[in-house]
Amino acid sequence: MYLTREQERMLNGEYGWAAAKALELIVKVGEVLGAEELVEIKHAHVSGVSYSNIGKYGLEFILDFYRRGGRARVYTTINPGCVDYSGLSSIIDNVYRDAQSAIDEGLVEMGFKPVFTCIPHYYRPPSPGEHLAWGESSAVIFANSIFGAYTNREGGPVALAASITGYTYKAGLHLADNRVGRVVVEVSATAREAPIGALGLWIGENVRATPILRGLERLGLEELKSLLASMAASGSHALAIIEGVTPTETYRVEVVDKVFVERGDLEDYLGDDIASSETVLGYIGCPHLHPQELLYILRLVRKYGRVKRGRLLVTIPLEYVERFRPLIYELKARGVDIAAGTCPVVSVIRREFDAVLTNSGKSAFYLKKIHGVKVRLERLENVIRYVCT
Ligand code: F3S
Repeated sequence: MYLTREQERMLNGEYGWAAAKALELIVKVGEVLGAEELVEIKHAHVSGVSYSNIGKYGLEFILDFYRRGGRARVYTTINPGCVDYSGLSSIIDNVYRDAQSAIDEGLVEMGFKPVFTCIPHYYRPPSPGEHLAWGESSAVIFANSIFGAYTNREGGPVALAASITGYTYKAGLHLADNRVGRVVVEVSATAREAPIGALGLWIGENVRATPILRGLERLGLEELKSLLASMAASGSHALAIIEGVTPTETYRVEVVDKVFVERGDLEDYLGDDIASSETVLGYIGCPHLHPQELLYILRLVRKYGRVKRGRLLVTIPLEYVERFRPLIYELKARGVDIAAGTCPVVSVIRREFDAVLTNSGKSAFYLKKIHGVKVRLERLENVIRYVCT
């Protein structure tokens, strides 16, 4: 692989142990993927930071870089961990508080922004063609598909290494030649009426090549966020070309196939029958909510008064608790459980329910696997109506 003189000096240890190790990791991954050079990045987003997922070896990996001098060279944000630092949630069990705090303190000392969220684009929206090194599959596909940024689906260690060095390997979606839509996915009007997460799960599982999504240009950003996150959960997608949305200069199209999605195709992706479940947890906020979604939820809860049946959990970036304080506390007063900087997929939860009703295809996909509960997908409005009436 070609390295500049600066990169060679970094690899040889002139910038310290942490930068050398981090660059070595990036070069090795890049060589395996056929990269011929590195590329400067503008923003790293580090996933794989939740102690309940990475355990003590993951903790040691991160703290080793911190103790041995690793520091962010570029703007870097942090994905959710397993602790609700706001203390507002009674569903998230902060059993790993000490270990998670140790990880988070190390990351913050390294210069990473403590947003603890999977929507880093809310804090720094990327520009078309900008190179990033992001972990968190839902954020990666959003960055590539909505903003036209260039990032692969990085694992946490590579995103961390990219932050410390300021570089990542130039392969995969960093190359224009690999940003090619090949399968047109035409979505019928009736399929569009189903919970959007079901459509995402269907595409993720049934379309292998980069899809070109047709008939979805009228969706709002919130629905696109949910759709893309579901696709990235059930499949390995990191880019979807959404006609009328994805910046045209960041992809090209070579159509080899076309598929139609009808309402009936989505039945199997709606999840379990939860009609006989006694205690249902409504869950909204995977990926984390944008402020306008939070406001919309408050309006709906106000319309019905308060949560009356089961529970309703909402997950948000940590910093919203201060920034939108009145809104958060009104939701809380109306019976909504709020968890900040975490989510039920990356944390330990108190199982005081036997089923989950959610608008999120991604959380439906993982909650069933991780926590073994019944999960049903519904539109956001219907989740709120269920728990509030
Ligand atoms: Fe975010 Fe947790 Fe979903 S990290 S994308 S809310 S699984």
